[in-house]
Amino acid sequence: MISEPVTKLLVAQVAHELDAHQTYMGIALHFERESLRGWAKLFHDQATEEAGHAAKIMAFLLENGVAFSLPRVGGAPTTYATARAAVETALASEQRVTGQFNALAQAARDAGDHRSFQFLGWFIEEQVEEERTMGALLDLIDSGVNLFQAEGLLEGVVGE
Ligand SMILES: [Fe+2]
Ligand SMILES: [Fe+2]
Repeated sequence: MISEPVTKLLVAQVAHELDAHQTYMGIALHFERESLRGWAKLFHDQATEEAGHAAKIMAFLLENGVAFSLPRVGGAPTTYATARAAVETALASEQRVTGQFNALAQAARDAGDHRSFQFLGWFIEEQVEEERTMGALLDLIDSGVNLFQAEGLLEGVVGE
């Protein structure tokens, strides 16, 4: 059994992950419009990862016999004023998600829900990489490099 407060937060987190999926799809489309296909691919891949995070949480809920409805997802823009504005949005989204997982871990701890607490560890670790990636992309943009020329550098900056 997983605890009631954690269950509620996990269902809400499914929506947050799908929100992040939409945000990244929107950013990918922004870069497609600018013919920056390497940047677009990076954010498209990131969007796929976020959908995977939602799926991972849904699987955990299912394994634990939790009945739930899928929560509503909020939508996202597909244009940004600048590449920097798009990546800033991504970083802010990651920081928000980190806060959500901290709150989830705290709730699991408070409820003595060790099963959920252990499950959440994977996400807490994942957020370190996610925030680092978006910060590194901002550093790349702030270096003043041409965004087309920067496409060859994306793999090195993002790592993995
Ligand atoms: Fe995520
Ligand atoms: Fe993420």
